[in-house]
Amino acid sequence: MTNNLHFHNVTVSTKDKILKNKHKPAVLWFTGLSGSGKSTLANAVEKLLFHRGFQTHTLDGDNVRMGLNRDLGFSQEDRTENIRRISEVANLMRQSGTIVCTAFISPYRKCRNSARDIIGRDFIEVYVKAPLEVCENRDPKGLYKKARRGEIPNFTGISAPYETPEKPEIIVDTSEYDIEECTLQIEQYLTNNNYFLGNR
Ligand code: ADX
Repeated sequence: MTNNLHFHNVTVSTKDKILKNKHKPAVLWFTGLSGSGKSTLANAVEKLLFHRGFQTHTLDGDNVRMGLNRDLGFSQEDRTENIRRISEVANLMRQSGTIVCTAFISPYRKCRNSARDIIGRDFIEVYVKAPLEVCENRDPKGLYKKARRGEIPNFTGISAPYETPEKPEIIVDTSEYDIEECTLQIEQYLTNNNYFLGNR
């Protein structure tokens, strides 16, 4: 499929963008059960970084499935393709110098590892940890109730697996800490790992 294709070198490099932005790009890959707080946290982190003047963007499961991935369902095969496309999109955004927050259940270790391979060293896996009972009690979209009634097949945590991350860069426990504390924990990680350059 890649026959007769030639990679073009870009004129304005990612390095040029880093120098302009005064921060490095990153892909903060939030993974966790539905209702664990991925989207809330991804948006809170983006808001904090955006107001610090950084170049940011959030990619969110439900939204991406309404557009780019509207042809995909929730079988293992479709989720794999969902995550593959998102990884490529997130990587393009990374090349643009952006700090990307992605909020997808991404339940399979193999898919998250492929995302890590595509994105490279700026892939930061953030495990949004909350027990299934807590997520089910929150049930912000009423989906767990439907899943328990058998109305949603392959529902993560109920009738489809969630494979816990083995070595995530960050673990945030949203059943123990509030969103603000978890947000600061992620900002601290970026600070400690020199994502912010100069006096920012
Ligand atoms: S992923 O597994 O492929 O990474 P993704 O994050 O894109 O999932 O989409 C999850 C969202 O789709 C959930 O937040 C929920 O609103 C909705 N959803 C609909 N059906 C399912 C299902 N069977 N399992 C999990 N989430 C579902």
